[in-house]
Amino acid sequence: MIYENVLETLGDTPVVRLRRLLPRPEDRIFVKLEGSNPSNSIKDRAALHMVEQAESRGRLVPGSTIVESTSGNLGKALALIGAVKGYRIILVVDPKTPRSVLSYATSLGAELDMVTQPDPQGGYQPARLRRVRELAGSIPGAITLNQYENPDNPQAHATHTAPEIAKDFDELGALIATVSTGGHLSGLGMALKECFPELHVRAVDAVGSAAFGHPFSPYKMRGIGLSWTPGNLRSECVDSLHRVADTEALSLCRVLAAEEGILLGESGGAAVFAALTYATAHPGKPVLAIAPDSGANYLYESYDDEWLREQGTPPEVLSLTPEDILRHARCPVHPPMSLPRAVDDAPASVETATKA
Ligand SMILES: Cc1ncc(COP(=O)(O)O)c(C=O)c1O
Repeated sequence: MIYENVLETLGDTPVVRLRRLLPRPEDRIFVKLEGSNPSNSIKDRAALHMVEQAESRGRLVPGSTIVESTSGNLGKALALIGAVKGYRIILVVDPKTPRSVLSYATSLGAELDMVTQPDPQGGYQPARLRRVRELAGSIPGAITLNQYENPDNPQAHATHTAPEIAKDFDELGALIATVSTGGHLSGLGMALKECFPELHVRAVDAVGSAAFGHPFSPYKMRGIGLSWTPGNLRSECVDSLHRVADTEALSLCRVLAAEEGILLGESGGAAVFAALTYATAHPGKPVLAIAPDSGANYLYESYDDEWLREQGTPPEVLSLTPEDILRHARCPVHPPMSLPRAVDDAPASVETATKA
């Protein structure tokens, strides 16, 4: 297949069925590998759609600058798009951003602006957004795409990702998707419920994230979670929530790599862990977990024992057997809970939600 430029290779990502790491041999658990996109993550889709829509509305013109806050993958995607389309890209990042992401972005010509002071709660996202506003206000012709509120972010997935899934599956029992901006969960949830009316949509968040109204506390996973509820989180399409702990996701990543040869990023580990929990409680239906990026982003970090030790996580804690993982998935640290109402109407309803 010949493409006119590297952006055309975006999408049509593979879906792989788990063969060994299953609650029961007959279970059908599938993982969509978004790390196969050209900058190795699901954010290529949102970034390209937001850029194309900004171009079509005249907000982006040749020579424009894009300033964006990113925990990593949106930055890689924008660096790639900037290189192909000729935009100046300034990425506001923080010390949690994986090293490989920073090197990737700068190799493609993006500029980095590092925020080093976390908010009093310990998160960096509000500080990054303040810095984006400062930069976008002071650089002539600069725009910010605001992935947290921009409806073109979920729309990318409703328009492009959901039809790929609908084409691959005749039936689908559950969609398991992680949340940061809410872009892929909301876009896929809304669109796929129209194709599969019985579909159960389960959101996966990090323990410590405040995206669903819980108090924020720092956590280790990258890419997933937020210290506030983003506008792009359309909770009306979400049936339940599973808050996954760092150790659950990181140990799942290691077992999945060894058992199935699938090397996922940390949020993908959380999604597959949640898929195992879902499948344990709901036998029979096909379950699809979205893996937002590849473990290649984290080889020298969460897959590296020395790095983990430096971060205060003894790697032994993550060295579980497949049987251990399946046992943990049956009794996770936080049991999934149903979401009876929109979270932004009633954050407390999350706390009182019934166990799914
Ligand atoms: C690795 C990773 N996982 C999950 C997400 C969450 O995706 P979304 O922003 O669509 O909620 C992101 C977003 O940046 C990510 O980079």
